[in-house]
Amino acid sequence: MRLENKVAIITGGANGIGKAIAAAYAKEGAKVSLADFNEEALNNTVAEFNSQGFEAFGVKVDVSSEDDIQRMVDDSVGHFGRVDILVNCTGVLDNMQAAHNVEDAIWNRVMDINVGGVMRGSRKIIPLFTKQGGGIIVNLASICGITGGRGGLTYTAAKHAVAGMTKNIASTYGAQGVRCNAIAPAQVDTGLTQSIDNYDMFGLKQATRGTGTMNRSASPDEIASIALFLASGESSYINGVVLAADAGWSAY
Ligand SMILES: NC(=O)c1ccc[n+]([C@@H]2O[C@H](COP(=O)([O-])OP(=O)(O)OC[C@H]3O[C@@H](n4cnc5c(N)ncnc54)[C@H](O)[C@@H]3O)[C@@H](O)[C@H]2O)c1
Repeated sequence: MRLENKVAIITGGANGIGKAIAAAYAKEGAKVSLADFNEEALNNTVAEFNSQGFEAFGVKVDVSSEDDIQRMVDDSVGHFGRVDILVNCTGVLDNMQAAHNVEDAIWNRVMDINVGGVMRGSRKIIPLFTKQGGGIIVNLASICGITGGRGGLTYTAAKHAVAGMTKNIASTYGAQGVRCNAIAPAQVDTGLTQSIDNYDMFGLKQATRGTGTMNRSASPDEIASIALFLASGESSYINGVVLAADAGWSAY
């Protein structure tokens, strides 16, 4: 059991990559606190996990709300007694809007969730981690956080911000036992694109020019196994990396 007696909060844990990460952690002995604003999916996932014998707790959270983030951590500590791992997995897309088509409402929403959510979660958890002598943060960045042309402007900017926060937190708090790393996947088979209701067709065309050079998409489990490695002692000397998980797409 690589995460025995550990407690992990996973934002966006009701679906997709977050759910796969929560399952991977629970199978390795972790108690998992799932934080998501889709209440129905959250309840279903918590019930599914508990029926499998996992220790799962659900908390309805909008990561763009400071009050919700406070409650997410406080309720998780109240329920499980401690928190050792925070996975900032929540994220939404930007309709692939190219720079000249960016709408303020999309910019604000994506920044508030994808960047603000990571900042707020980290801001709340770091004092707890430093007080207890350490803790682990795993952020979900994206290939859009390490390359320039694979998404819309806002999503690309947001994921670069996630990469920057990852390195900043690792370098600022590493000496106090905090490890903070990020995963940068290419395309993963989840329902993420359902958050797009109105594509910018120009932006979409530009951002998908290179998809012919992409080997294949990933399963959520392939990303979860990386998140498990980053949360376990096996990665104890790794801090501040943004790990591409893209079958070599960004290497091309
Ligand atoms: N799927 C991909 O191809 C891909 C590629 C690279 C990076 N990522 C990143 O991985 C992460 C997870 O993506 P996914 O594909 O699993 O997405 P998903 O849409 O399958 O799941 C995201 C979850 O986050 C929840 N959520 C959305 N907004 C929220 C909010 N404001 N507060 C709380 N919960 C909220 C949703 O309800 C959902 O359960 C995201 O950060 C995404 O940017 C995904």
